[in-house]
Amino acid sequence: MNSSASVMSSTRSVPSVALRGAIFDMDGVLTDTIEFHYQTWQRLADEEGIPFDRQANEALRGLSRRDSLLRMLDGRRLPEETIQTLLDRKNQYFREFVETMTSEHLLPGVRSFLDEVRAAGIKTAVASASQNVYAVIEQLGIAEDIDTITNVYCVDRPKPAPDVFLHAAEQLGLSPQDCVVFEDAESGVEAALAAKMRVVGLGPAERVGAAHWVLPGLDGLHWSDVTAKFVDR
Ligand code: G6P
Ligand code: MG
Repeated sequence: MNSSASVMSSTRSVPSVALRGAIFDMDGVLTDTIEFHYQTWQRLADEEGIPFDRQANEALRGLSRRDSLLRMLDGRRLPEETIQTLLDRKNQYFREFVETMTSEHLLPGVRSFLDEVRAAGIKTAVASASQNVYAVIEQLGIAEDIDTITNVYCVDRPKPAPDVFLHAAEQLGLSPQDCVVFEDAESGVEAALAAKMRVVGLGPAERVGAAHWVLPGLDGLHWSDVTAKFVDR
């Protein structure tokens, strides 16, 4: 791994058990759709006169579409039919971005990290809060690198509940302790910790500092670094 990643990292103690599965959150980990989500929420907010900006968008990382809108409304109550219309419109705007996506939209380092994970015989899953996860993975051209794709609509409770990660492990035929999760959202880190998995938080410590290991992103990270950190100690 490069030195900047080492310098910015921190480790918390976790049991040393061999890793057999890598579970990735999607938005903000594999691809920078956070910007697309921001622009589409901003468009909707401007049209509806809802106060919103980039900083407010940061608080939405990892939340479902519906929970995001409710957070933006800040207690303002709207009829269910209106909420549904707004959610559909937001997604319509977002899908315009999805259609333009290609493998160019993978975040730096993702392609080579996936290659190393596959070469090591590790099973892979994507576990996202996004209803668009299947379409986005397809557009990114990594569908054949991922053994199972799941989202919070496949389970009872959204992140920060552990459900989506436990479901992903089950789909892979693995126990939680076999898996390492890569997450960029506070709620996702909380969910992965609750699932009793090893957790790599990607981003600033103020956001993902609860993770076992904090890194700026996947760029420069090697699978051997991950096993060295969690297993070969
Ligand atoms: C991810 C993003 C959120 C987004 C959510 C729902 O977790 O971090 O910002 O709101 O997915 O995405 P969707 O594609 O279903 O609207
Ligand atoms: Mg994310």
